[in-house]
Amino acid sequence: MTPDYPLLVRQLEALLDTLDWLSNSAQTCAFIMQEVGELNWVGFYLHRQPNMLSLGPFQGKPACHPIPFEKGVCGAAARTRETQRIDDVHAVADHIACDSASNAELVVPIVVKGQLWGVLDLDSPTKARFTTNDQAGIESLVTVFIDKTELTTTALT
Ligand code: SME
Repeated sequence: MTPDYPLLVRQLEALLDTLDWLSNSAQTCAFIMQEVGELNWVGFYLHRQPNMLSLGPFQGKPACHPIPFEKGVCGAAARTRETQRIDDVHAVADHIACDSASNAELVVPIVVKGQLWGVLDLDSPTKARFTTNDQAGIESLVTVFIDKTELTTTALT
């Protein structure tokens, strides 16, 4: 069933009642894992070192760390600062396989005041799981996360 993203936006706004990036990022990925179907991994990668993504709070199996900007779907999102929506990760030459169950992927960059703070990564076992509607919906949840969280220098310290 297609998630009711406008409802999820209101619920996430209510859930994120602290400005703390660690609490809010943990809550956000747990909330998405619970409310959005057919996912096997949801989590944050943080931009804590130049051109490198460090594993942050997540739900799912232990994952790859670190990820350089040059590699994988997460690296492409960090480099281009554009959402990456991949129907079949096996068709992406430099895809980084953390969990063999993953077939589709959606990675949304998190940009705050012109700086890349990190990315939110969703993996699904279902090929072509993520529609343009899912992309817009998850991007709206990322906007809630940004608006409800103190992210200025956070992950870089
Ligand atoms: N598949 C990602 C790596 C992160 S995991 O999916 C958790 C990529 O290619 O960037």
